[in-house]
Amino acid sequence: MRRHELPRTHAAGRTYLVTGSTSGIGYFIAEQLARTGAHVILTARTAGKAELAQRAIRHSWPQAQLSTLSLDLADLSSVRAAAGHLATFADRLDGVVLNAGVLAQQTRRETVDGHELVYGTNHLGHFAFAAQIYPLLQNTLDSRIVTMSSYAARWATLDLTDLESSRAPYRGFATYKRSKLAQTIFAFELDRRLRRGQSSVSSLLAHPGGALDALSPKRPPMPVATTAQVLRARPLSLIAQGKDKAAWSAVRAVLDPQAHGGQLWGPRFLRSKGEPRQERPTAAMTDRVVAEQLWQLSEDATGVKWPSLSQPRRL
Ligand SMILES: NC(=O)c1ccc[n+]([C@@H]2O[C@H](COP(=O)([O-])OP(=O)(O)OC[C@H]3O[C@@H](n4cnc5c(N)ncnc54)[C@H](OP(=O)(O)O)[C@@H]3O)[C@@H](O)[C@H]2O)c1
Repeated sequence: MRRHELPRTHAAGRTYLVTGSTSGIGYFIAEQLARTGAHVILTARTAGKAELAQRAIRHSWPQAQLSTLSLDLADLSSVRAAAGHLATFADRLDGVVLNAGVLAQQTRRETVDGHELVYGTNHLGHFAFAAQIYPLLQNTLDSRIVTMSSYAARWATLDLTDLESSRAPYRGFATYKRSKLAQTIFAFELDRRLRRGQSSVSSLLAHPGGALDALSPKRPPMPVATTAQVLRARPLSLIAQGKDKAAWSAVRAVLDPQAHGGQLWGPRFLRSKGEPRQERPTAAMTDRVVAEQLWQLSEDATGVKWPSLSQPRRL
């Protein structure tokens, strides 16, 4: 399946959920999935942004089937409530894209539950959310969990004794890289556990390359980049792309019948832009010993235990 064929993929009758779909790459993943005829659930922190994103998708695709779910990954009670609410209106879930993310912070900040903000949102929030919506995925034949990684995860090393960057000095980009590596290690470990359990659910990974709002097409009534931002971004288009194109890897991991669990998809050109292709992970991403420990530490930190991944219950 080539990317220009994506809009022709028919996924009517399926339901997909995309975290962080009120802006950026997540918005475009949701828009592209909606164009397949699927029901797409957008997660949002604020009702206003959810409304804008829905209007923008319907502006270009009036027949889009959309719902929204309130979700703040930096608040584990919101994560629990969102999973509970989802179960009241969705009876199937064919795929979830764990896309939302906070980028590098200047200073150390914390989530509502007292975890370091970037690790707590990107990894712990998604770890807990995916565990709590897993029963819906398990009840849907051949469903997929797609985790949004980053090329930055390639340059990171995980320190299991300081996952929350408590030791001074706080380094924002190093913390961000580690959070993406933690998500990546989690997604590969989830794939191994699902296979061991002979589950029909798959865990795949995607990364968007380098993506900038200022290189993305306008989506009224969503906010647009200023002319100055667009002009500044132009030279970067040599190595970066718009967030519409950055969405392709995740959309492909969700939809492509040839894609399967344990694969990592990313842009073809310098891992930074272009059509998606399958990539080889680094050794750190697939380290089983670290993954086992990270899983346990994540369950301890969130107080959320993953259900058994073995028995295949299907709709
Ligand atoms: N852009 C890149 O070059 C790049 C490169 C590698 C990987 N990535 C990854 O790609 C993903 C999307 O990046 P992006 O550039 O599209 O970022 P973005 O434009 O900043 O969008 C991030 C999205 O995540 C949501 N979000 C942030 N904190 C949240 C929370 N506590 N709970 C729920 N949702 C939350 C935001 O919601 P609001 O709209 O409410 O703020 C927004 O929808 C991230 O996982 C990022 O790590 C991006």
